[in-house]
Amino acid sequence: MAQAVYIINGPNLNLLGSREPEIYGTTTLADIEAACASKLSSYDLPMSFFQSNDEGELVSIIQTARLEASGVIINAAAYSHTSVAILDALQSLSQPIIEVHLSNIYARESFRHHSHISQVATGVICGLGAQGYEMAIDALAKRIKP
Ligand code: DQA
Repeated sequence: MAQAVYIINGPNLNLLGSREPEIYGTTTLADIEAACASKLSSYDLPMSFFQSNDEGELVSIIQTARLEASGVIINAAAYSHTSVAILDALQSLSQPIIEVHLSNIYARESFRHHSHISQVATGVICGLGAQGYEMAIDALAKRIKP
């Protein structure tokens, strides 16, 4: 069996469902995790699903992914716009990386228009809500080396 797809979620995404539902919808992170598990099982790919509010912990998870993941899906949330440490960690990976945002970051405040992560991402999906994670899995499944 292939190595796990790492799905990494950043700060405040643990509050999905109740946090600004007009922007992020009412789907919870547990709902997203269940949908991702089901989608990945259709590809026979294992999943490791994470959420952390802590930048350093996210860096450590990415360092583990470097050794153990077949691919990475990351929604680094606000750290996408600020974290050179997360960019540096992702830069050390050779696996495909798909960046996901639930909201359309380009239709929001200008400080959200730039993501440090996009420059190292294979692809970027934003504005499609929880569906973006499932689309990212489809894209990764085609790119993961057997
Ligand atoms: C987000 C967009 C970010 O700008 C924001 O800070 C988030 C969530 C999204 O999924 O739309 O926390 O990454």
